[in-house]
Amino acid sequence: MTAMSVQPLRRRPFALDGNAALCSSGDWCDGKPLSTQLLNAYTLLIPEGERFVIRTCAPYLREAAPGLREELRRLFFQEGGHSREHERVLKAMRADGQSLDLFRKPLEWMFYRVIEPCSPGKLRLATAAAIEHHNAVIATHFLNRALLRGIRIGELRRLFLWHFAEEIEHKETAFKLLQSVSRNWLLRALGLALSFGTFMLALALGTILLAVKTGSAFSAGFWSEFMTHCRGCGLLATIVRESARYLSPGFAPSPQESRTLLDAALAELESLGVVRPPFREIPSRRTLPAAFRDRMAPSLERVRRLRPRNSYFGACIGGYDGAWVQSQGMRKLNFCTYSYLGLVGHPCIDEAAKAAIDRYGTGTHGVRLLGGNLELHEALESRIAACFEREAAITFSSGYVTNVSAIAALVGKGDHVLSDKRNHASIVDGCRLSEADVTRFRHNDMADLERRLSRLPDESRKLILVDAVYSMDGDAAPLQALTALRDRYPNTLLMVDEAHSLGVLGCRGRGIEEHFGCSGQIDVLMGTLSKTIPAQGGYIAGSRELIAFLRFNARGFVFSAALPPPIAAAALAALDLIESEGPARRARLMSSVDYFVGRLRDASFDVGNTASAIVPVLLGSESLAFDMARRCNALGLYTMPVAYPAVPKGEERLRLNVTYAHSREDLDTAVETLRMARDYL
Ligand SMILES: Cc1ncc(COP(=O)(O)O)c(C=O)c1O
Repeated sequence: MTAMSVQPLRRRPFALDGNAALCSSGDWCDGKPLSTQLLNAYTLLIPEGERFVIRTCAPYLREAAPGLREELRRLFFQEGGHSREHERVLKAMRADGQSLDLFRKPLEWMFYRVIEPCSPGKLRLATAAAIEHHNAVIATHFLNRALLRGIRIGELRRLFLWHFAEEIEHKETAFKLLQSVSRNWLLRALGLALSFGTFMLALALGTILLAVKTGSAFSAGFWSEFMTHCRGCGLLATIVRESARYLSPGFAPSPQESRTLLDAALAELESLGVVRPPFREIPSRRTLPAAFRDRMAPSLERVRRLRPRNSYFGACIGGYDGAWVQSQGMRKLNFCTYSYLGLVGHPCIDEAAKAAIDRYGTGTHGVRLLGGNLELHEALESRIAACFEREAAITFSSGYVTNVSAIAALVGKGDHVLSDKRNHASIVDGCRLSEADVTRFRHNDMADLERRLSRLPDESRKLILVDAVYSMDGDAAPLQALTALRDRYPNTLLMVDEAHSLGVLGCRGRGIEEHFGCSGQIDVLMGTLSKTIPAQGGYIAGSRELIAFLRFNARGFVFSAALPPPIAAAALAALDLIESEGPARRARLMSSVDYFVGRLRDASFDVGNTASAIVPVLLGSESLAFDMARRCNALGLYTMPVAYPAVPKGEERLRLNVTYAHSREDLDTAVETLRMARDYL
């Protein structure tokens, strides 16, 4: 059996820290989620299982091909290490009154004294291979869903991660050995049934007994979690699904998948320096009135329903390093970033922010009009105006606030707004707040816009609102057609949101005007300071008259505190960098986008009509989008599902943002991961 690749199993000597306290009463289970209880039960049950694998595979060592023999030796070394360290944890649990010896001993006696000696060697081997497969499935399940988070004992987390990382490798080795001894399907099926039966029996009973022992079984939370796990999407369903896969005729463990998961587990291990103190939730003293709870119920129900498929949405980030993020215990390739030119963390920007703190401190003393106006703010606004060749500019505390306040200031009752159907929510909300008559025209459909414009009286005020690049699809607005329509209809203004085009469109990255070669044509040029510019805030650039009006009438400017000094300084420094490094960074970015889109299309992914660094992978169903995202994240690709209301129902997708920081290898990895995730589902 040589068709499969050689495993990179290594002799990684692993030992728990001898000085670390492994337990202190309560830390094992008290108030912990079911996943922690499962792991504790697993700890109590596993040492003998590891020895069983070694005992079973050892007799075949001499017959195995030399490469495989070496792999097996390493497997024994690793399994031996797991077993030894598990034994230590077991001792600590025993000392803390958490042992399940009364249950464990008879079970072990039955498994290893009765069933094992009565089974033929080949069946034992088939069982050992299936155990490794199941262990890898469990490891993947726990890693996928960041279920190790509940474990506060650092050494225990380390042990599991270590174990998981190696378990993921072992499934290939054990399977190779089985295939080299017998390719009989029935034998494989019997081994699987034995592994499945004994494992599930021990794990389920172990978890329940431990929960009874620690008292957590008497809480409703435990059982509702247990039921969620048992129903459809939990561990059991995963094991059943993966068992079916194992039995399919062409099954072979995927080395690529193993490697990605292994890297993820090892990266998490590396980062495991600090163990945070346990988070104790303080119960709320008041419950919400029923009428409010009713209002919230459908939304909370949706969140609850999607939770098992989606542990990544809104997940916590531990840190960034280049194109990577540390999230949920894994180092993942980041495709969820708006830092299109890779400027987050640029030393010049960080230095500028630090210098501003040294000079002004972190906050301002209030709103711009009343004591919060710093020289820094004025310098930033002059810089923005110069960058876009406008007379003046004004900044706000966020891009969202910029749109909402500027639109509500520019139009009111009796005026008309014509807004593209795919405009960002901040534009939609600005329209609502303005109380103007709002007409939504079909996305990028200039004929539809014209039809609607032509129905409006010439003397009425009309504001056309579009995104330069649409945040969910990545396509660009047809600026030339828009300015032509604006010019044809009197009393019409054009406002464009450049959130996703700054740094991306135009040869110098100046946005959509530069892209279409029509500088100075947009009346109200809006942008954010939170995307290509790695800070916070938003701006409007335009005529002196327009900006002077907004300074006293845009309520988000008048009534909200000024941008914090380090943020304003960071934005200013970023604009300088866009001037000096922007063109080169943008050239590399756009060549990466072309490459990535080409590779995705070759792999038969539907990426729509993107013209920017936003690359949608259209999937067309909410469950598929969530499942793909979960799978991709488990494989180390940080991407999020996009669902209703961000996109219309039926247009659910993943969205991947390419940045300057992505190398060709990163882009290849992303395509491979997406392909693997799709094949898996
Ligand atoms: C098109 C568009 N406009 C405005 C905003 C709001 O910007 P901010 O996040 O800076 O508030 C966003 C945010 O993603 C956006 O995509």
